Amino acid sequence: MFELNFEINQFLDTYWQKKPALIKQGFVDFQDPIAVDELAGLAMEEDLESRLVYQQDGTWQAELGPFKTFDKLENDGATLLVQAVDHWHPDAQQLVRPFRFLPNWRIDDLMISYSTPKGGVGPHIDNYDVFIIQGQGKRHWRVGERQELPEFAAHGALKHCAEFEAAIDVEMEPGDILYIPSGCPHEGYAVEPSINYSVGFRAPDQNDLLSSFTDYNIDNNEDALRYTDIPMQVREKPGQIEQVELEKIHQVMLESCKTPEHLMPWFGRMISEAKHDLDIAIPDQAIECEDIIAFLEDGAQFTRLGGLRAVYFQQSPEQVFINGDAYDFTGFTDLAPCLCDQDETASELVEIFKDAPEALALFTHLVNRGYWYAE
Ligand code: SIN
Ligand code: CO
Repeated sequence: MFELNFEINQFLDTYWQKKPALIKQGFVDFQDPIAVDELAGLAMEEDLESRLVYQQDGTWQAELGPFKTFDKLENDGATLLVQAVDHWHPDAQQLVRPFRFLPNWRIDDLMISYSTPKGGVGPHIDNYDVFIIQGQGKRHWRVGERQELPEFAAHGALKHCAEFEAAIDVEMEPGDILYIPSGCPHEGYAVEPSINYSVGFRAPDQNDLLSSFTDYNIDNNEDALRYTDIPMQVREKPGQIEQVELEKIHQVMLESCKTPEHLMPWFGRMISEAKHDLDIAIPDQAIECEDIIAFLEDGAQFTRLGGLRAVYFQQSPEQVFINGDAYDFTGFTDLAPCLCDQDETASELVEIFKDAPEALALFTHLVNRGYWYAE
């Protein structure tokens, strides 16, 4: 449905995580996959994260959804933002697919904003990479190179940065794509009522990784290494911690990360967890293995639920991690790429299920959990 119109390898070499880029007509003949009233409808739901940003008497205001009314959008200078729309709107989800030239585990979600003329969230710096696609209308965007800038709260829920020099200064038109690496200041204000789509990427920081790894170890590592003393002598200064003791403490901490056997099961679970709610619909009646075969014979294809995260490791495709849980694919490892690399699958499943009834049983279980569905 959406096809990128630029040299991807050249983009990756020159720009990815290095510098901002404007890709004029990155999508040719771009058609919005969602209407403004549909977006507003989603912003009325409890399950979605939404925000309204506007200025009142010269001061920035931000309200968190869900919203009952959208009076603010009747005036200029307002923006409605809805997070993880790809989880709830299959047509909007199509817009994430062209960006799967980067691995799924790095992709976060699709945020969609609607702005009335002059609407924007103000100058700011995000700590993630993002592609911003212009839908209907026009918006004036300014983006600076990566730089350190003072940041401050323009409102309790709105962090801004100081003024910056723009490396890109452009009026975006439908189908234009702006790539903004993490750490680059940017601001965009609508020229006409405007829809913007943001495909965001996630990169965990050390604190995210270590706290999650420690949580995993608390549950799974009964043999946690404990501090033991260095050879002891009578201490003249009992209030003092000796340097060698501190070093030994540090050593015990570092040893915790030297457990390669924990790395995959922990990271697979962590990275496959959804950050935003999923639109999970459990089938009313349990689906049986025969039903799956019947669907496939009817020519149906199975689609992975929007936003569902399913990953496997290069060196271990028999362990598959789906929505924070580990599944054993031993004996039918060709099912892993089929479910994790592809958004839709059909004919490959028929082949795999022919030889491996356990694969069919497991897939049936996943369908009953609402993770894959047939149209
Ligand atoms: C917006 O669409 O208004 C905000 C997108 C962003 O700056 O990250
Ligand atoms: Co931003």
